[in-house]
Amino acid sequence: MNRTDFFAEIWNQYIQMTPQAKRIQALFRARGENVVNDHVAFRTFDIEGFDLDRATELLAAIGYESFDHYTFLDKHLRATAYCVSGDPSVPKIFFSELIRSELDADAQAIICEVTSSLKGELTLSDLKGYYPFHKPTLKQYQTLVEASEYAGWLSTMGYQANHFTINVNALQTLGSVEEVIELLLEHRYQLNEAGGHIKGTPADLLIQASTIADQISFEFSDGIVSSIPSCFYEFAYRLADSNGELFQGFVPNNANAIFESTYRR
Ligand code: NI
Repeated sequence: MNRTDFFAEIWNQYIQMTPQAKRIQALFRARGENVVNDHVAFRTFDIEGFDLDRATELLAAIGYESFDHYTFLDKHLRATAYCVSGDPSVPKIFFSELIRSELDADAQAIICEVTSSLKGELTLSDLKGYYPFHKPTLKQYQTLVEASEYAGWLSTMGYQANHFTINVNALQTLGSVEEVIELLLEHRYQLNEAGGHIKGTPADLLIQASTIADQISFEFSDGIVSSIPSCFYEFAYRLADSNGELFQGFVPNNANAIFESTYRR
């Protein structure tokens, strides 16, 4: 699979789960915008063969190298950022994993059961919407989300792009994240308000905002159907560092708030 096909396929999967993303992209295009991605994000558990080490191997096959690492203590997560060296026009990838040992025993036992069906290793094509888990019961899901909203999301949504992110620097008619927010609010999109609509300051060199995830219906293993958060859309504006180069990394405080876009409402 080449990188272009990979992105086309993960986008097609993502917009099925995230109809707002298709509508927002259409809204931007109707203004004459050519929508370019800043990054795409994926989530996983820290299980050998499915963890960040495996993600690093898979992404290397389509030209990506890791360039930074982050930890999110209160969310029991760590993450790695990947780019195609020397080509900032290729979207970056932000891959996070849940550190299972940091959760309580009940949550760990549920994750153990949910992931008992995992076989072999994660593959690149799994990232296009593979659900390899043993579905939780609604009660297990509720216990899991109390311990970790991230674990609840992953146990129901499986492997797919958690969000795409529009590169705001590349927009012609909207000059800032503030202007993007204004347009989205005019069109009644719900935005992530954790720490305010805007995540980051010019001093961080990265300013971001995101929508609240769409909701989809999910049948739990006990036959109960309930709505769960699916995926969301993000917007990122980058500033130049002291060398005049646009900052390409991520800012832990911003990312920490953006994870909350998939929290249950
Ligand atoms: Ni992001």
